[in-house]
Amino acid sequence: MHMQQSETQAQYEQLKKLAISDNDFELIRNWIYEVAGITLTPAKKNLVSGRLGKRVQELGYSTFGDYIRPIITVRPGDTAAVQERQYAINALTTNETYFFREPAHFDFLRDVIVPQWQGSEARRIWSAASSSGEEAYTAAMVLSMALSKNQWSIVGTDINSEVVNQAGKALYPLSRAEKIPSQYLKAYCLRGIGKMDGLFQITPKVKSRVSFKTANITQDQTSLGHFDLIMLRNVLIYFDKEAKQRVLDNLVKRLKPGGYLFIGHAESLNGLDYDLKMIKTSIYQRPAEKSGR
Ligand SMILES: C[S@@+](CC[C@H](N)C(=O)[O-])C[C@H]1O[C@@H](n2cnc3c(N)ncnc32)[C@H](O)[C@@H]1O
Repeated sequence: MHMQQSETQAQYEQLKKLAISDNDFELIRNWIYEVAGITLTPAKKNLVSGRLGKRVQELGYSTFGDYIRPIITVRPGDTAAVQERQYAINALTTNETYFFREPAHFDFLRDVIVPQWQGSEARRIWSAASSSGEEAYTAAMVLSMALSKNQWSIVGTDINSEVVNQAGKALYPLSRAEKIPSQYLKAYCLRGIGKMDGLFQITPKVKSRVSFKTANITQDQTSLGHFDLIMLRNVLIYFDKEAKQRVLDNLVKRLKPGGYLFIGHAESLNGLDYDLKMIKTSIYQRPAEKSGR
């Protein structure tokens, strides 16, 4: 028993001690930039060791480098390594989000965009870095209140497969309902009872119009089709100029003429090339196609 305790203590000490070397941090930093466009500044060294350290040790590696090298060189058929690669991506992304975040965008959607969409063709929104789905469902609630259900749909995508799975469930702790205005809460959120106590779920009517998939916005996303509104909010902050430009090129191509782009209020497109008109801070529009003469 005594022996067991001291072994546990020794393991604990070892767990505590695993530090990330500068070289290994560089390896991880370069890799996540390459795959996701995410820039990890040197100040993020502790964050990386905090998020991946336990995993590195659980899998029996003694350094971060030993853990990351097979991930960097993974071959597509190597299922275990492909899964571990996704695990590392999930661990290295920051997924903070909430319902009705930056509400001015949703006011603009309701007051300016939706009236333009009334009674016309079916409209599509893309929440391009959707995290656990709050952004997509917020837009869905706004559209539900104003448009008939077959007139719109929303696609949410994120590089983090875990948050994409959560988003698909549309199930959240009650504490996350705080920022949802009461008219939307009453109309589109169901309070859990019994086993679901302490949770709420987005109503099936709204949920059925929203789908999610894992996708990387630094890569071409032609298969998603074209959109009337793309929300690219609070993700550009993780990218340098080159990665921002790549993402913007990919997304602007997915906008229909006249379609809108929202970016986060703290973000900027300064210094980037794009064919968009700025409507107001953080809201852009792709010019409508010129009619033929
Ligand atoms: C801070 S959250 C923002 C969520 C939401 N858009 C909002 O404004 O609340 C940033 C999200 O971007 C995702 N992300 C980072 N790099 C990405 C990439 N290359 N492709 C797709 N999603 C990415 C992260 O996984 C994370 O969920």
